Amino acid sequence: MEKKRFYITTPIYYPSDKLHIGHTYCTVATDAMARYKRLTGCDVMFLTGTDEHGQKIEDKAREAGVTPQQFVDNIVTGPRGILDLWKLMNISNDRFIRTTDDYHVSAIQKIFKKMYDKGDIYKGKYVGKYCKPCESFWTESQLVDGKCPDCGREVQDAEEEAYFFRLSKYADKIQHLLEDTDFLEPRSRVNEMVNNFIKPGLEDLCVSRTSFTWGVPVDFDPGHVVYVWVDALFNYTTALGLYNDKYDDYDKFWPADVHFVGKEIVRFHSIIWPAMLMSMDMPLPKKVFGHGWLLLDGGKMSKSKGNVVDPYILAEMFGVDALRFFLLRTFPFGSDGNFSNEALIQTINVDLANDLGNLLSRTVSMVGKYFGGTLPVDQSEDAEKDGELVGMTSALRGRYEEQMEHFAFQNALAEIFKVIDRANKYIDENAPWVLAKNMETTGPRLARVMYNLLETLRVCAILLTPFIPQSAAEVLRQIGADAACSDWDSAGKWGALPGTVTVQRGNNLFPRIDAEKALKELEEAAAAAKKAALPDLEVEPQLEEKVDFDTFCKSDFRAVKVKDCQPVKKSDKLLRFVLDDGTGVDRQILSGIAKWYKPEDLIGKTLMAIVNLPPRKMMGQESNGMLISAVHTEKGEEALNLLILDDKIPAGAKMC
Ligand code: ME8
Ligand code: MG
Repeated sequence: MEKKRFYITTPIYYPSDKLHIGHTYCTVATDAMARYKRLTGCDVMFLTGTDEHGQKIEDKAREAGVTPQQFVDNIVTGPRGILDLWKLMNISNDRFIRTTDDYHVSAIQKIFKKMYDKGDIYKGKYVGKYCKPCESFWTESQLVDGKCPDCGREVQDAEEEAYFFRLSKYADKIQHLLEDTDFLEPRSRVNEMVNNFIKPGLEDLCVSRTSFTWGVPVDFDPGHVVYVWVDALFNYTTALGLYNDKYDDYDKFWPADVHFVGKEIVRFHSIIWPAMLMSMDMPLPKKVFGHGWLLLDGGKMSKSKGNVVDPYILAEMFGVDALRFFLLRTFPFGSDGNFSNEALIQTINVDLANDLGNLLSRTVSMVGKYFGGTLPVDQSEDAEKDGELVGMTSALRGRYEEQMEHFAFQNALAEIFKVIDRANKYIDENAPWVLAKNMETTGPRLARVMYNLLETLRVCAILLTPFIPQSAAEVLRQIGADAACSDWDSAGKWGALPGTVTVQRGNNLFPRIDAEKALKELEEAAAAAKKAALPDLEVEPQLEEKVDFDTFCKSDFRAVKVKDCQPVKKSDKLLRFVLDDGTGVDRQILSGIAKWYKPEDLIGKTLMAIVNLPPRKMMGQESNGMLISAVHTEKGEEALNLLILDDKIPAGAKMC
C-alpha cells in the first residue's frame, strides 16, 4: 500500500541575526510533528530554510563591511550558524532551502512573470510607509500611532514606481476561505485577519522595489527587485521543484498539509499567500497554523532589545532533549508563553528527572536486582491491581494521537505523563521490595509487576520519540525493547514486549539539576557569550567637521618628562604627574588613567602633553594641561595607551 504523504514547513528564517530560543521553538515543534507523522507511517517532507533577500540584509551587510551574500553565508553556514543549530537540536528536516539558491531565484522570476502575464501584477506608483525591520509596506491607515502595527517601530516614507499585485481582486475568496473553512488555525486568528485586514478593504500589494538591489531581479524590467515576501512565500513550492529542475516532488507533496508560522506572519500566510496561489491557479495548502510567541518577562524576544536567549547555551547546559521537551511541554502551541530559565529547570527536574527518569531507573534496577536482568516465564496477573495501569497504557496511543492531530503538543505530553505518574504510584501500591522478600511465593507476582512497568515505559517511550528522540531510544534500549516492539503499531498494543525480556542498565537519563548552581552558570555563560559577540576592536569614527589651520596651530603640544607620579587620594581614576616641560618650573597635570597604569612604571618616561589649556581643578588639585593618549575599544571595553615618546626627545620640544 502506498504511504500517506505529509508535507510540513517552518517559516524560512531571516539570517539577519543569530537565532534565539523563540525561533528554535517553531522548528522544534515542526520537527516533533514531522517525526510523529513518520512514526505513524507517513511519507514525510519537512522543509525549512532561510529567507535571505531584502533591504534589512543589504543594510546589515553594509554595516558589517561585507557583501550581502557573505553576510548571510556566515549566519546560515558559519560556525554556530543556523545549519549548526538545527543539527545540534536534532532537527530532521528533509530539505533546506536558501532563497539565494539559483534554482529558487530563476523560479521566482518565472512565477512573477506568470502573474504579470495574467494581469494580476501591474505597474503603478507606490506611496506609503515602509517598515525596514519587518520588510513590510503599510498604508497610512494601517499604522498604529504612526508606527509599524507589527513591531511598533518607526516607519519611513516610501514613494517609487512599482509593481502591484491585485490582492483586492481576491478579497471575497480569501474571506470565505478564512471564515468558512479550517484553513487557518487556531480559530481566534481568523477574526483578527478578517476584522483587521479584510473588512477595512484589502488594498493591492506592492510587490517590487527599486530603491535597493539585494533581491530577485524582475527579469523583464531591470532595476526592480521582487518584494521579499513574494520571493519568500513561494519557497514552499520551489523547494519541491516548481519551475526548476533541481527537485521533482511538486506533484507528490503539493499542496502542503500544514505551514507552521508565528502569529505575526499569519497575515502573509493566510491572505497574501493563498491569493497569489489562486492567481497562479495552484492548489492551496490545507492549513496554516499560527503559533504564539515565547516571551521574556512578558515582552517579545529580540536582539535589538538585548534580551535574547541563546539556544546553544541552553542546549549545551541542559541537553538537547530536555530543551526540546520543555518548549513543547510547557506552552500551548497556539498561545504566547513566558520563557524562563527557572521554569525550564523545574520542568526538567519534575517531569524528566523525577517522573520519567526515576520510573526508568527504579524499574530497570529492580529487574536487575530481583531477576538478574531477565524476567522469568512464570508471572502472575492480578486483574484488580493491574487493571487501571494496563487500561490507561492501552488507551494512551489513541488519546495521544487525537491531541497530536490537532497540534496540541502540550496535551499529548500531558497524556503521557498521566500514565507515567500512574506507573510511579503503581510501584508504591505493589511494593516490589515486599514481594521480593519471599520469592518462592510472590516471585511470579513480582515478575508481573515488573513486566507491567516495562510495558508502560515502552509505550510511553515510543510516543515520546518525536519530542525527545535520543532519550526515548535510550529508554527503549534500557528496557530491552527491540525494533519490532518499538514502532507505532506496537505502541497501540499492550503486551508487545516479550515476557522474558532482558533489561540493560544504563546511565541516569535525566540527572536532577541544582537550580541555584545552574542559574548562576547560565548567567556567566550569557555574559561570556555577550562579550564574545562584541567586536574585537573598535575605533571612534573620524570627525566630519574641519578645523581651520590657525585654530589648530594655537594648540601647544610639548614633550614632557615624568619626574614624579602618584595616585590621587580618594580617587580611583586620577594620577598626579610632576613634569619637566623644559621651562625649569615643574608642571602638574592630573590624568584619569589610573585604570591602565601603575604610577611607578611611568616615572622617567617622556610623554606628550598639551600645555596651554586653562588650569582645571580636580579633587582639590590644579591640573595644567593634558597628557595625550590613544583610545580604542576592545571587546566592549575601553583601552587607553599613553603616547610614550623616544627618550632622545628633550623635555620642552615642541610638537608640530
Ligand atoms: O518572519 N517566539 O522570519 P523571522 C516564537 N522570513 N516564535 C518566534 C519568536 C518568539 N519569540 N521570534 C520569532 C520571518 N519567532 C520570515 C518568514 S516565511 C515564508 C518567511 C518566529 O526569522 C516568527 O514568528 O523573522 C516566525 O514564524 C519565525 O520565527 C521566523 O521569523
Ligand atoms: Mg520576524
